[in-house]
Formats: sequence, structure tokens, C-alpha cells
Amino acid sequence: MNPRVNPSVARPVVSQRAGITIRRTGVNLGAEISGVDLRHPLPDAQFAAIEAALVENELIIFRDQDITSEALMAFGRRFGELTVHPFAPNEGKNAPELIKFRNDETTPPFGTDVWHSDETFRAEPPMATILRATDELPAVGGDTMFASMSAAYDGLSDRMQQYISGLHAIHDMKPFRPLFGQSLEDRKKLQQFELMYPPQLHPVVRIHPVSGRKVLFVNPQFTLAIDGMEERESRALLDTLFHQALIPEYQFRHRWEPHTIAMWDNRSTQHYAVHDYYPQRRYMERVTIKGGPVTGVPRADPASVRRAKYVAPEGVDTHGGHKPH
Ligand code: OGA
Ligand code: MN
Repeated sequence: MNPRVNPSVARPVVSQRAGITIRRTGVNLGAEISGVDLRHPLPDAQFAAIEAALVENELIIFRDQDITSEALMAFGRRFGELTVHPFAPNEGKNAPELIKFRNDETTPPFGTDVWHSDETFRAEPPMATILRATDELPAVGGDTMFASMSAAYDGLSDRMQQYISGLHAIHDMKPFRPLFGQSLEDRKKLQQFELMYPPQLHPVVRIHPVSGRKVLFVNPQFTLAIDGMEERESRALLDTLFHQALIPEYQFRHRWEPHTIAMWDNRSTQHYAVHDYYPQRRYMERVTIKGGPVTGVPRADPASVRRAKYVAPEGVDTHGGHKPH
């Protein structure tokens, strides 16, 4: 690791705002918020403090919040419009915005044990996600891992930061294709989804719209390739960039207890649901908050990366001693 001073170390561990307490639990991301009751609408000042804490800490945790699905949706709506996931199991007509993950002996978890930000196959991926644990949780296992992709960006060398600035990557709904079978009906359905959710180009380095921090914005679940590169180059670069989320210094491991609520800033983090608990039960509820356009950083110093034809100075043998006949 680079022995640079991490500016996050200097931030206070405990702070108080609008009567709520924010205690940081990780250096690069993670904080627990206490002194709020999410069963009831929050006073504006408390809501503003939570909204700021989300951006600052990237992941916020609320313990002992035994709230209804309706209260979860109402809390989510304070941040913006809730979106409907095209593929995740939801509550149907009454509350399509409410995702229910019910994993047990008959339904193993699907598709969350890969590092990802949520729904980056969309033109405008969600700004945040809120996940609520019910009281049906594994006795052991089923943690969720998070990674700060702003810290992951900061940890890249200056050379790499410069190199990836201004690149765009293709994001795709590929992980959901296996949900469709081979029947004609299924293939038609899949085709409709593909028309509704065509591959999207997103900047590899995005600027967080609130904090202004730079964020590494590629993930192994949805990112297919770097635009404008040879496939082999793209694969090698993505492999290097995906690896950033695996570095423990940028991670935080969250342990669920009954009625814990976790909310992550989907613009600056990735997560991974640890699938180690099957066949135990794990029942969770989720709402997702609509995001805005993804703004990238400009290409850094194009002149320095433009390929120039090598012109040998006078008198230099460019054939290295091999003379053409
Ligand atoms: C999600 C997700 C993580 C988990 O809800 O987007 O990836 O721990 N879930 O269930
Ligand atoms: Mn997810």
C-alpha cells in the first residue's frame, strides 16, 4: 500500500447534528446513526443531517428500527422518487417499488455475490439504496461487504488516474439474462427487456454530484468493456480496476442484526452480499432511490497520450543494425 496520509483519518469519530448521533465505524466508509426513530416522519433538520451523513460516510447504518414496509418506503421517498427494479422480486401491483429478498432452503440467493453498484445498466443509476433486515436472519453469516469507490479511486497511482480520466465503459443488464429460458415466449420477453434497457456508456471516473469527489465507476457485475479499446486492453484494464474493490483498506464488512437498516450511496460505493449462509433464512426488504445523470471527468492532457510517430534524429540507425537488402 501507498504510505500516503489518508485524510479520512482526521475526521471526528463521533458527531452530533439535529439531535442525532453519527458514529463512524470505518475509516473510508461506514457510520452508525442513533437517536432517530424511522417509524415516524423525520423532522426536516434530522432528515438533512441524515442526507449529509450519507454523502460523507457513503454507508449509514440504523440499528433497532422495527419499522413497517410502508415506513421504509416513506423514509426512502424523503430522498427522492423510488424506482421499480425490472428483474428483482417485488411486492406486485400494490408496492412494485418494494423488493423482497426471501432467501431460504428453497430459494438460494441470486446475483448479489458479485461486487457491484446497483443497476448501473440504467442510463441514470440509482443514487442510493436502503436495505432493511427483518427478524428472519441467519444465526451466523449473510454479512454484506461494502467498498468506498472514492477511496479506491484515490488509491490509484497518479499515472493510472490520468490514464483512465475521460474513458467511458459499457454497462449492460447481462447478469439477468439467465433468468430467461429458451422458450419462444421467454426469448421474446428478454428481447423486450433488452430494448428497454440497452447497454449504457458511463464515465469510468465520475464526479459525485454532492461531494465533488472522484469515484471509480466500473463494476464486475454490469461493466462489459471500455469504449474505444481493443478487447484485450479493455479486459486487462477492467481487471485492474475491478480489483480496487477487493482491497481491504477500502472495504467495510457489515453484520446484520434483526431490524437493522443499511443505506448506501450508490454513486460512491460498491457492495457484495456474502453468500455463505444457505440454507439458513435471510429475509430482507429494499427500496431504491432514483439517481440523476452521471457526470465524468474530462480526459487528462490528451497531448501526453496521443501516439506520435517516432522520428529518429539524424544519424541514428532505426533498424538496429539490421540493414534492408
Ligand atoms: C441489494 C444487494 C445485498 C444483500 O439489495 O442491492 O445487493 O446483502 N443486497 O442482500
Ligand atoms: Mn445490490
